[in-house]
Amino acid sequence: MSPNVTNRPLTPADFPAVSRLHATVFGPGRFTRTAYRVREGAPAFSPYCRVAMLGERLIAAVRFTPITVGGEGGALLLGPLAVDPEFAGQGFGKRLISEAMEAARTDGVRLVLLVGDEPYYGRFGFRPVPPGQITLPGPVDPRRLLAAELIPGALARSCGPTAGQRA
Ligand SMILES: CC(C)(COP(=O)(O)OP(=O)(O)OC[C@H]1O[C@@H](n2cnc3c(N)ncnc32)[C@H](O)[C@@H]1OP(=O)(O)O)[C@@H](O)C(=O)NCCC(=O)NCCS
Repeated sequence: MSPNVTNRPLTPADFPAVSRLHATVFGPGRFTRTAYRVREGAPAFSPYCRVAMLGERLIAAVRFTPITVGGEGGALLLGPLAVDPEFAGQGFGKRLISEAMEAARTDGVRLVLLVGDEPYYGRFGFRPVPPGQITLPGPVDPRRLLAAELIPGALARSCGPTAGQRA
């Protein structure tokens, strides 16, 4: 990992660079994903969104959206996480997630959800949500709907539909 890369919170000035990174990494199909529908109803960013900078160049970004599950707050939806392909596999994704999850835990966030690969996200404590327990506003492969408890027992107490939490 380059010692010159620094992580910091996302700011509105980063939006154009983050959009370019998402277009590079995910392509045009990204707006049709179910997770995007959850984020549509929520503020553009939360205090847990972070970026990795190599000088002035944005090389990785992660978003966390405040959500409600079954009407209850205190939860986040992680994603998208994107690392510039030129810098993939060097620990930048891991570091962004670890820092943000630690901050969320400190703030008392109880649960983080995401739609993604368990082999990658399992290392941060993400496990598949029991099928049907939590729903998103669109189709999701149940094996890819993952949750990490920041407070023990939080997943068992979370069920129902997921929605972006308005400020
Ligand atoms: C997936 C991604 C976020 C990983 O970030 P990264 O900075 O490249 O990876 P890191 O350096 O944090 O982690 C590397 C480790 O993750 C593993 N890994 C990377 N992608 C993986 C995947 N899809 N499934 C399982 N493991 C994966 C690597 O094998 C490596 O394992 P190791 O630590 O045991 O050697 C990044 O490559 C990326 O942006 N990919 C395209 C977009 C994407 O798929 N985003 C996630 C869904 S929102």
